[in-house]
Amino acid sequence: MTDSRKLYIKTYGCQMNVYDSERMAELLAEAGYAETDTPDDADMILLNTCHIREKAAEKVYSELGRFKGLKARRPDLKIAVAGCVAQAEGEEIIRRQPLVDIVVGPQSYHRLAGLEARAGQGRKALDTDFPQEDKFSALSSRPKAARGPTAFLTVQEGCDKFCAFCVVPYTRGAETSRPAGEILSEARDLVARGVREITLLGQNVNAYHGPGSGGGSVTLAGLIRALAEIDGLERIRYTTSHPNDMSDELIAAHGEVEKLMPYLHLPVQSGSDRILKAMNRKHSAADYLRLVERIRAARPDILLSGDFIVGFPGESEADFADTLALVEAVNYGQAYSFRYSPRPGTPAAERPQVAEEVKARRLEELQALLRRQQQQALRRAVGREVGVLIEREGRAPGQLVGRSEHLQAVHLDASGARIGEIRRVRITAAAPNSLAGVLAG
Ligand code: SAH
Ligand code: SF4
Ligand code: F3S
Repeated sequence: MTDSRKLYIKTYGCQMNVYDSERMAELLAEAGYAETDTPDDADMILLNTCHIREKAAEKVYSELGRFKGLKARRPDLKIAVAGCVAQAEGEEIIRRQPLVDIVVGPQSYHRLAGLEARAGQGRKALDTDFPQEDKFSALSSRPKAARGPTAFLTVQEGCDKFCAFCVVPYTRGAETSRPAGEILSEARDLVARGVREITLLGQNVNAYHGPGSGGGSVTLAGLIRALAEIDGLERIRYTTSHPNDMSDELIAAHGEVEKLMPYLHLPVQSGSDRILKAMNRKHSAADYLRLVERIRAARPDILLSGDFIVGFPGESEADFADTLALVEAVNYGQAYSFRYSPRPGTPAAERPQVAEEVKARRLEELQALLRRQQQQALRRAVGREVGVLIEREGRAPGQLVGRSEHLQAVHLDASGARIGEIRRVRITAAAPNSLAGVLAG
């Protein structure tokens, strides 16, 4: 085993991909690869791709094209494509871009070391199966290095909801939940390595129903309560949730479990009932507003985040006005918004499309409103004292950056504070996307 080989990973898309990239880096570390932050001196380049955006595959092909020169100079260089574009395109990737050596899907990357060993010098290795054996148990109990104070932990994968715009059910497959015991031991291991905040991940995380040790199944609320028992774990978050899986039990946990942070990402996509129906979201705008009310009754200071799509096929000015009205009614602390982009193979891609300039105008209008709400949420924090988990050094010398309980970035110039600590910070100013403060007391 040579220790000198270098691995360059570039990660696109959701936090699930971030988690998967960390696991792949660990696997390849065992095969003798150390990570580097430039492709120029890498022995292996791994693109962990996302398929959500328009022309996602095309962008991957053009990114790959840029490695031509590198590969020509260093024929030993191995190029791998992982993630959701790998799953969607499969063998097509090697056909269209022969400099790719390895294609590996999100459900089979635990076999990556084997693929790496087989590939190279013109030999290709492809694995986009949805294998029977469990990826996570194949990955567990590996030696792991110390790490920063926050971590993602995938608890659930795939999705059975089939929203009419979305590729996830096709690229990540059917919904599955990891056993609770396995998650708890991974969490304990993370805490032992310095982690103080864990974000539980799943495409549809609140549908989590993993096998428990006693034979029954464990809900997300049950899992959160069990995690809250772990000494040293101070903060728990989860993402992303579907409104229809927001159970009474989970809402109650927000009021009762102190370690569960007052932040919830709860995408609604549209405020129009007609569009929600066309999207196959299976709830109305009023259902969502009632749900938000119940969540706020359990945890009044919760900060809500969302996802929105504008210009979904058939969206009229009146439908869009309904979205603006819903945003006004909810008052989000932060949100993501996108123009609808047709994804091949999804039902909405076949429908008559809204003109691009209409989408652009609506997106601008929606984002202006969401920005105002985010600004208000940040300004509300000014003058308050908040708990901040200090995550890393900032750009300015002596500056530290952390996150409030509401997941707002907080910059503080603090001598006497260390990364990994949770400190009381008095907020002194609000910037467009973050807060500034000083250590309290
Ligand atoms: N599982 C999550 C989100 C998955 S994708 C959920 O159910 O909400 C993340 C976000 O990307 C979605 O919430 C949606 O707002 C956006 N998105 C997904 N497909 C899209 C498409 N075809 N066009 C535009 N935005 C899309
Ligand atoms: Fe995609 Fe989320 Fe809908 Fe599932 S619930 S199909 S992941 S948008
Ligand atoms: Fe993208 Fe796949 Fe995540 S399509 S958003 S990387 S599940």
